[in-house]
Amino acid sequence: MTANIAHFNGELMPLDRIHISPLDRGFIFGDGVYEVIPVYQGVPLRGREHFERLQRSLDEIQLPNPHGVDEWMALVAALLAHHPGDQSVYIQVTRGVPPKRDHVIPKGLAPTVFMMCQPLSTPSREAVENGVACVTAPDFRWEKCHIKSTSLLGNVLARQVSVEAGATETILIRGGFVTEASSSNVFVVKDGVVAAPPRDHLILLGITYDLVTRLAGEGKVRLEIRPIAEAQLRAADEIWLSSSTKEVLAVTTLDGKPVGTGKPGPVFRRMHALYQEYKRKLAAGRTVAA
Ligand code: PDD
Repeated sequence: MTANIAHFNGELMPLDRIHISPLDRGFIFGDGVYEVIPVYQGVPLRGREHFERLQRSLDEIQLPNPHGVDEWMALVAALLAHHPGDQSVYIQVTRGVPPKRDHVIPKGLAPTVFMMCQPLSTPSREAVENGVACVTAPDFRWEKCHIKSTSLLGNVLARQVSVEAGATETILIRGGFVTEASSSNVFVVKDGVVAAPPRDHLILLGITYDLVTRLAGEGKVRLEIRPIAEAQLRAADEIWLSSSTKEVLAVTTLDGKPVGTGKPGPVFRRMHALYQEYKRKLAAGRTVAA
């Protein structure tokens, strides 16, 4: 088998040759941030936007960015040279390896940079055509969910709620309002109008969420950004999930009850078509490869 080439602190090397110190603050404290970029036929989808969000996450945790956006894009391209086809690129930057465990943020430490590829597994045709099941749970995470932090215990435990129910995702409710799902954003549709929760600190501002709002504008789909009450989620005609790996996916049962007709709705089908068209143009080089 050929080696799975990954990036570690400026070098490309086989994944199984990478060794990280147990004192790394990513290991000890989950003190780091990450990105996941989908790549279609070698072209990253909104790569620059992912690195702009990485910058915002790094700023929030007071960690200097080891690379500019152009440098990051070049590093991703070098890694992708070893991984043809559709891929998901995982990028993680942690605060590095201090001499001892101490909560205080150390100064002048070199961050640890790690990148790897995994084959991109987008939703199956069956999932796109029939939709998926979701359950709800209280959003028990912290209040800085806009940071794409590697400290994902809250998200992992939230996801486990749906794993145990045999469902695809857990939609989270905080103070009576929808925030997001354990690893995706959430949209609802009522009477033909799409609603997305506000872009605040209680959700991760998804690059796919952002793309969906743009495609809605260009495709003449009515979309508003506003708080979504739990009752509005439960009364929605359609519910969608979005993420870099799920793309846009219809939710057809919520807590065991059908959503709308129980089939992916017409507004979802329109948005899914717009998304697939965007991808096709990207791979054909007719969209800015950003
Ligand atoms: N997750 N909200 C959360 C909590 C997420 O973890 C993600 C993505 C999203 C969607 O963001 P984007 O559209 O930029 O992928 C929303 C990634 C895919 C992950 O952790 O694997």
